[in-house]
Amino acid sequence: MSEPRSDALVLFGASGDLAYKKLLPALAALSAPAELTGPVIGVARTQWNRDQFRDRAAASIKENGRYDAAAFEQFAQKLDYVQGDYRDPALFERLCGALGDSRHPLFYLAIPPDAFGAVMRGLAGLECSKGGRFIIEKPFGRDLASAQALNRTLRERFAESAIFRIDHYLGKEPVRNLLYFRFANAFLEPLWNRHYVEAVQITMAESFGIEGRGQFYEGVGALRDVVQNHLFQVLALLAMEVPIATEGEAIRDEKSKLLRSVRALDPRHLVRGQFEGYRSEPGVAADSKVETYAALRLYIDSWRWSGVPFFIRAGKCLARTATEVRVVSRKPPKALFEDEPASDYFRFRLGPGAVHIALGARVKRPGPQMNGHDVELQFCSTPDDESRAYERLLGAAIEGETTLFARQDTVEAQWRIVEPVLAADIPVHAYAKGSWGPPQADAMTAPWGGWIEPAGIDTARGAA
Ligand code: BG6
Repeated sequence: MSEPRSDALVLFGASGDLAYKKLLPALAALSAPAELTGPVIGVARTQWNRDQFRDRAAASIKENGRYDAAAFEQFAQKLDYVQGDYRDPALFERLCGALGDSRHPLFYLAIPPDAFGAVMRGLAGLECSKGGRFIIEKPFGRDLASAQALNRTLRERFAESAIFRIDHYLGKEPVRNLLYFRFANAFLEPLWNRHYVEAVQITMAESFGIEGRGQFYEGVGALRDVVQNHLFQVLALLAMEVPIATEGEAIRDEKSKLLRSVRALDPRHLVRGQFEGYRSEPGVAADSKVETYAALRLYIDSWRWSGVPFFIRAGKCLARTATEVRVVSRKPPKALFEDEPASDYFRFRLGPGAVHIALGARVKRPGPQMNGHDVELQFCSTPDDESRAYERLLGAAIEGETTLFARQDTVEAQWRIVEPVLAADIPVHAYAKGSWGPPQADAMTAPWGGWIEPAGIDTARGAA
């Protein structure tokens, strides 16, 4: 049975950063082909009226989206604004009034986690929220217990099928291609296991810092900000078993199974780092121990992956901005040629800029010697349109399609993996801005040949 389409959108946190940078441009884009019908109501504490909200939307789309004056006029007709305090019942009455006869509004909670409870309680008793859906922004809790508590608050009144836990990585085209490439090609399957794979590395490097989000970042750190959610979702798509279908719960079932088979992180397998200068950022404590870099080694206890190390690292202020996966093959069991062969690999560049799927191998150099060099075969190299991730996710939520969102059991499995290190006293090592993180992380991958820097945008292997 197909789900009813959402017939209105309510954006809590309408005056915030996420709304400005991502959500308003995505909503405007969905409005043009009429995927988004009905009113778009911004809700926030900021003292704005409807016209001020429209002005803000125009500025947001000009700066971050695809602005077209005529299309914007149409979009602006749908925009409305309700101002108030999330703890005030009168705010929710006004909101219901603005929703008119909408029966399936989509409520987007782009608000800090400490405000989730108030908004959900405010919505809970209302007629206008009965047939609603709820998009919940990350972070979904800050550990297992708080994620479970938040879920209880949501589930007191609303069904799991009405809850959309957003992880924008799942809306990214190259992340979707990871799933597609893995299961559209039979040649990969015999290689995709512990017999042929020596190690896997997932790197999410950002050359920029915390961009004024000091207060938020102090409450999370790299592990909670991007590893426990975005990178574990990538890990799940990379390593899971083939789903029985692409519809319904099939993909989410496999991701959940995979994440439940990841062994809880051994504190000895985590290196934390902090870029020099972090403690002088606004909103950051002078003695902060929050990590802006995390490197970890994980194991998956399954027949397919037993014994294969999965290395994940993420950091701010690193040498380059690139998210890349390397699946490194085992070396030939006996070296026949004089030059030591490098391991072959699959490389998935997930962005930003160009995205790639590539296979690295070794071929003979022309000439009398039996010497080789590294080459790379690219299966795809396309520009990534980053702006479409939120559009895709919002479009799916409007249709009531949950596949691209995180299910509660998956979120809990993700927290279980990092649970042993969240409260542990693990040192945080300083690293220079523009480096590849603290040198203490080097020992982690040394037995497997060290960390592999994400390739440059050009095609040559190892290019800077
Ligand atoms: C967000 C994090 O979830 O993801 C940010 O809060 C991070 O710290 C961002 O920079 C990265 O997303 P993207 O799409 O730019 O790779």
